Amino acid sequence: MLGVGGGVAAYKVCEVLRRLTENGHQVRVIPTEAALRFVGAPTWEALSGLPVHHDLFADVPEVPHVRLGQTVDLILIAPATADLLARAAHGRADDLLCATLLTARCPVLLVPAMHTEMWEHPATVQNVAVLRSRGTLVARPASGRLTGAGWGAGRLPEPAEIVDLATLLLCRADALPPDLTGRHVLISAGGTREPLDPVRYLGNRSSGRQGYALARVAAQRGARVTLVAAHTAELIDPAGVEVLRASTADQMRQALLTAAVQADAVVMAAAVVDFRPVTPHPNKIKKSGVDPDPVSLVLNPDILVELIHRRPPGQVVVGFAAETGDSEGDVLTHGRAKLARKGCDLLVVNAVGEGGAFDVNHNTGWLLSDDGVETELPEGPKSLLASYVWDAVAARLKQRS
Ligand code: CTP
Repeated sequence: MLGVGGGVAAYKVCEVLRRLTENGHQVRVIPTEAALRFVGAPTWEALSGLPVHHDLFADVPEVPHVRLGQTVDLILIAPATADLLARAAHGRADDLLCATLLTARCPVLLVPAMHTEMWEHPATVQNVAVLRSRGTLVARPASGRLTGAGWGAGRLPEPAEIVDLATLLLCRADALPPDLTGRHVLISAGGTREPLDPVRYLGNRSSGRQGYALARVAAQRGARVTLVAAHTAELIDPAGVEVLRASTADQMRQALLTAAVQADAVVMAAAVVDFRPVTPHPNKIKKSGVDPDPVSLVLNPDILVELIHRRPPGQVVVGFAAETGDSEGDVLTHGRAKLARKGCDLLVVNAVGEGGAFDVNHNTGWLLSDDGVETELPEGPKSLLASYVWDAVAARLKQRS
């Protein structure tokens, strides 16, 4: 069920609905009366293919607020305005949407959008705290341009991001507990590039999607998140996340070593290019040149190993291993050896090649722990894998505190 609040961001929620139905979900839309002043019922009906009501006195014999609350798999509300948060926090039942919230038996995700002043007002802060204390998920809004001349926290996250969170909750209802609240986590994402000359580079196929999913899920589990991103595909910066950019392995190393000093956990999801040219050519290398082997390479530092050597007490460090398996051993054998060699607490092992892991939305693999526990991770969206990684990190942090 998609509840729509009365904010101008309702227009963006049409895209959320379109994506959800395209992904095969049946979505019943319940707008508030105020929402219908921004986007009319015919739009919601056309996009959902279902009738749309907003007041408790429509379709009375069906008792829709009870039937919906008890049968839907997820209630997603966007934009959740300050007024809607207040009514939900007080258990009001003065329209179909709020009445349905009182009968809900499924996860409820409220995605706020409002001006920064309203988001930071003590009344809203208290309402959000009350809702969260009851297990209702209130997403962290994005920062950016607001309606009018405003800029700040309170912007509706992008539709793709909302759909990603909703999809995660449909796969796993308990994927977003607030167990990273008060923690600072550092994540690397994407693939570094080493320039060979002004035109060419050494690189890899990483899109950064897994690192972004880790950042998005951590932020919604309450963490302060710093994401160091290198050459990611055109990905949306996750709501409420500080994003730093790096291009080469050296830039990524600098950014991570600086930020890691204050981090409770570091997740190294980036694909770092192992080699760089001894000196990049200042001019374009010509194939007609006399040098038959124009590029000499040196090894880049292993950032993960360096992070582990310098880690502050109690910090949890997670590595990733993209493996194909070969004559020396299968994917898991290589993963176990890498966990021991690098010395991280946890290692996520992905099988790559033949469509696995790189530049796709789904992922699967194993989570290896330095205490010998090995968990096979179910196939699903990258945010699902991220949620299992954070489960393990949060458990470690709890043990150590
Ligand atoms: N990594 C790193 N710095 C590097 C290379 C890798 O921090 N110079 C990190 C990656 O971010 C990942 C982990 O080490 O978390 C494993 O990366 P992977 O490419 O699988 O392993 P390598 O150490 O490069 O070993 P090999 O390529 O020989 O398998």
